[in-house]
Amino acid sequence: MVVSPVLQVCDLQVSFMMQKRAYPVLRELSYNLLPGRILAVVGESGSGKTVHALSLLGLLPPAAHVSRGKILYRDTDLLTMPRARLRDVRGSKISMIFQDPSASLNPVLTVGEQLIETLRAHKPMSKQQAREEAVRLLEKVGIADAPARLSAYPFEFSGGMCQRVMIAMALALSPDILIADEPTTALDVTIQAQILHLIRELQQKEKMAVIFITHNLALASEIADEVLVLYGGLCMEQAPAKDLFEDPHHPYTKGLLASLVSMDRRVERLPAIAGQPPMAGEITKGCPFASRCPQAQEKCRQQLPPLTQQGIRMVRCFEEKTL
Ligand SMILES: Nc1ncnc2c1ncn2[C@@H]1O[C@H](COP(=O)(O)OP(=O)(O)OP(=O)(O)O)[C@@H](O)[C@H]1O
Ligand SMILES: [Mg+2]
Repeated sequence: MVVSPVLQVCDLQVSFMMQKRAYPVLRELSYNLLPGRILAVVGESGSGKTVHALSLLGLLPPAAHVSRGKILYRDTDLLTMPRARLRDVRGSKISMIFQDPSASLNPVLTVGEQLIETLRAHKPMSKQQAREEAVRLLEKVGIADAPARLSAYPFEFSGGMCQRVMIAMALALSPDILIADEPTTALDVTIQAQILHLIRELQQKEKMAVIFITHNLALASEIADEVLVLYGGLCMEQAPAKDLFEDPHHPYTKGLLASLVSMDRRVERLPAIAGQPPMAGEITKGCPFASRCPQAQEKCRQQLPPLTQQGIRMVRCFEEKTL
């Protein structure tokens, strides 16, 4: 049976206006997301992970705009959809857990009020029905004593619990797609593992597709079916997770993996990639990774390598790995 993608990103380009000039921070981004699958988007700070997520939801800051491409949600382009419809899709079909939960929860409303408000904004239900649903959602994300917890304020919750509430809010309307932007960065390792487990469990039970954004490859290797590696706003490699971690092709992916913090041995090795990623708006003629790449040749500095198919993966490098 052929499964249709729930999301198709086609040749997406996002630019920021800086001093009256447009600088692309995301270029030529294309991928398909299948229902019930987890795509990890990985890359160093500034690679464009969050800008990519915000563009999917039409939530880019005013200085940024999509300058090219399509974002098809079940064959409808989100970029040309009327604002009101997009707002509806955003609440009920595509949800996002933001990088910082404390910035996304309203400090002056109780957790219950926020959940009930989210539910009633999208579904016709009485206050009592919404309250019962809110309790069910808090229980689903593993918050003990949920009915009593509804009347608590976010500051009365720990970081891990706030993140669970964010997940409960994101799941309130059973979305088709959950975008999780560094959902566990602020949390300690034990809570991190619990949140990962929770996302995976819900994804399997509800057949939800997940875009899991992280700079942490160890996390990506634990959760993802497919991995997309971003660098300087460009996809460098995209592959099934198992293939990418067992046998990375792109020199940047290899570097990232070499600097991976070993989750098993708790040993932190020195970063293997010398140098810094490109600055905002810095566009080089050739491959943006060339200045840090141990395999770079003159051609790489002159010309941007195209993203090409190598077996079951896509790689942006002139150096073709012998398969
Ligand atoms: N409001 C803004 N104005 C100008 N440039 C911005 C703005 N927000 C992001 N950028 C630039 O866009 C690029 C991508 O940023 P983005 O936030 O998507 O990175 P990221 O991969 O999410 O990084 P991190 O891991 O730190 O969250 C960066 O070069 C960043 O400096
Ligand atoms: Mg980010």
